[in-house]
Amino acid sequence: MAVTRTFSIIKPDATRRNLTGAVTKMLEEAGLRVIASKRIQMTREQAEGFYGVHRERPFFNDLVTFMTSGPVVVQVLEGEDAVKRNRDIMGATNPTNAEPGTIRKELAESIEANSVHGSDSDENAKIEIDFFFKPEEIVG
Ligand code: CMP
Repeated sequence: MAVTRTFSIIKPDATRRNLTGAVTKMLEEAGLRVIASKRIQMTREQAEGFYGVHRERPFFNDLVTFMTSGPVVVQVLEGEDAVKRNRDIMGATNPTNAEPGTIRKELAESIEANSVHGSDSDENAKIEIDFFFKPEEIVG
């Protein structure tokens, strides 16, 4: 299995409840290594750009408002089959449907305040990493 990279966001509901460490611990215990990390306040422009694929969805405005409601932690994660590994430990988008032991089942509040984002493909991982990180910020 190849070592690959994925992109993660610890969302405002998790930073607000001081769960940055708890989320990161679950990622690390799932076999992912945090090779870049920074805590930022996303601008509305950044959130709209990042979630541009969802622009036509009814929840788009609420999603952008939520993602700019407090600090987030953007991370690059590395590990074997990182995209799938991360999505497995994240659990389903709606915490109600997430498996026990996943981040969203254990920590998330709702489908919107669902604690983490993770890339859904290797291709999108690269796009999302490039959206938030310069190459020199990824230190391994
Ligand atoms: P995320 O993986 O960050 O990608 C888009 C986000 O939209 C998703 O997680 C959810 O937190 C959020 N969202 C809010 N409402 C919905 C909804 N009804 N269906 C899907 N995603 C939603």
